[in-house]
Amino acid sequence: MTGTLTDSPAWQALRRHHEAVRDVHLRELFADDPGRVERLSLEATGIFADLSKHRVTEETVALLLALADERGVAARRDAMFRGEHVNVSEDRPALHVALRMPRSTSLVVDGQDVVREVHDVLDRMSAFANAVQDGSWRGHTGRPLRAVVNIGIGGSDLGPAMAYEALRAYSDRGMAFRFVSNVDATHLVEALRDLDPEETLVIVSSKTFTTVETMTNAHSARQWLLDGLGGDERAVAKHVVAVSTNLEAVAEFGIDPANAFGFWDWVGGRYSMDSAIGLSTMLAIGPGGFADLLAGFHAVDRHFAEAPPERNLPILMGLFRLWYRDFFGAQTHAVLPYEQYLSRFPAYLQQLVMESNGKRVTLDGDPVASDTAPVVWGEPGTNGQHSFHQLLHQGTSLVPCDVIAFATSLNPLGAHHELLLANALAQAQAFAFGRTADELRAAGVADALVPHKEMPGNRPSTLLLLERLTPFALGSLVALYEHSVFVEGAVWGIDSFDQWGVELGKELAGALVPVLGGTVSERALDASTAALVERIRRLRKA
Ligand code: F6P
Repeated sequence: MTGTLTDSPAWQALRRHHEAVRDVHLRELFADDPGRVERLSLEATGIFADLSKHRVTEETVALLLALADERGVAARRDAMFRGEHVNVSEDRPALHVALRMPRSTSLVVDGQDVVREVHDVLDRMSAFANAVQDGSWRGHTGRPLRAVVNIGIGGSDLGPAMAYEALRAYSDRGMAFRFVSNVDATHLVEALRDLDPEETLVIVSSKTFTTVETMTNAHSARQWLLDGLGGDERAVAKHVVAVSTNLEAVAEFGIDPANAFGFWDWVGGRYSMDSAIGLSTMLAIGPGGFADLLAGFHAVDRHFAEAPPERNLPILMGLFRLWYRDFFGAQTHAVLPYEQYLSRFPAYLQQLVMESNGKRVTLDGDPVASDTAPVVWGEPGTNGQHSFHQLLHQGTSLVPCDVIAFATSLNPLGAHHELLLANALAQAQAFAFGRTADELRAAGVADALVPHKEMPGNRPSTLLLLERLTPFALGSLVALYEHSVFVEGAVWGIDSFDQWGVELGKELAGALVPVLGGTVSERALDASTAALVERIRRLRKA
């Protein structure tokens, strides 16, 4: 990969091609090409992807693939799978694919068989989950543990919280699961409010074990346990476990290393839900369910590594997102799961996409020549239809959408699922084909209303269709997005695995704590922040 991205022959060819096709309507593309659906549909590991409603021609796909080739996407993918230091700014591998490699395989990185280490931890997690489940691991007072509170933030929260919601149908309904992330005490207080300390297990999940929100919540939760368990420090060992790469800090916190589940610095926070960070998931769905989840991830890893680029779903999804972002100027991308269990999936993807690819410089530190990650957002269908879909259909912004649907429901009830699926398909139809003024007039709509009712269409979407939401399906969906994000990052030539942009806020907040507490003057602050501090002081006195 050499030269500036936007000067490259493939980019230039795409730019010229975009000029030629940008106004072509999906209606024309469908009318002119009977083979379109077959050519632009693809099935991988149980995920059927209808890519035909994208504003692409055969030539677009060929040019995007040429861009990926020119930018060395396949070589970077292979380097990632080999455990090379693809996270350049932090000088380490991004080896989340090793977290789901089967026990029978091996991958030696820096002299260590990481697959063996992964399975050692998985075995310890399974033994622990089984012990909690069968009651051989009990609380300090001898009661079985019936509630699990995961304390973490970012990647140490969003994955586990999303996965619990997604896989609730497979979870132990006799146990309560809570996820506390915000340093706002309300989050912790409300989560603990109806729980009994004697029956509660707290999992402190933090890759670094230094994140201020998590440590603050962990200390308060520990105190809540001690208060409820008669103040006996020994109680902590039965009620608090840790998940971290920083086992020294875990010990300093007072958690017995025997109650800690490790992972490795080559697992990025937002790529960690399938590591020990998924301990709450395993407690919910059992070791067998967790193994199915990992198998789903692994199946897509193999597809990504082996399928030819033109049939490779993560490659195509990544390139299509980039097509809209960089050539059509689409600033946002909506994820619309037609599955209530996936209600937290858009939030999960926000971190995955935006923390990974919300970058402004290349691996060499030069300004990146094009736009990078879009803003990702979304809500489950059909709720979104009654709020923001108006903008998707008739607004002035182009918002590419992913519609995710399952052929069968985990809760079959009357006509619900037929209605849900009909709506998913109808939205994708309406996005693509809209409704023309002529159609409206032919249907007798008054002339004055025609412009209001006209639906321009030509709004691109991917429809991902799966048989049903299972642990395997969830793992495969997450891996699909992980790798599509990788593909975009590789084309842009950025580091998709660091997140330096979050550091300044942490530093400034740390410096403001003593200012708010009154032990340090606000005088050195900028005028706006100083005035706000002053206002907070006055409001507190009032
Ligand atoms: O601040 C961002 C971040 O570093 C994320 O990348 C990470 O997922 C989150 O904080 C939590 O970090 P930790 O797991 O170390 O507490």
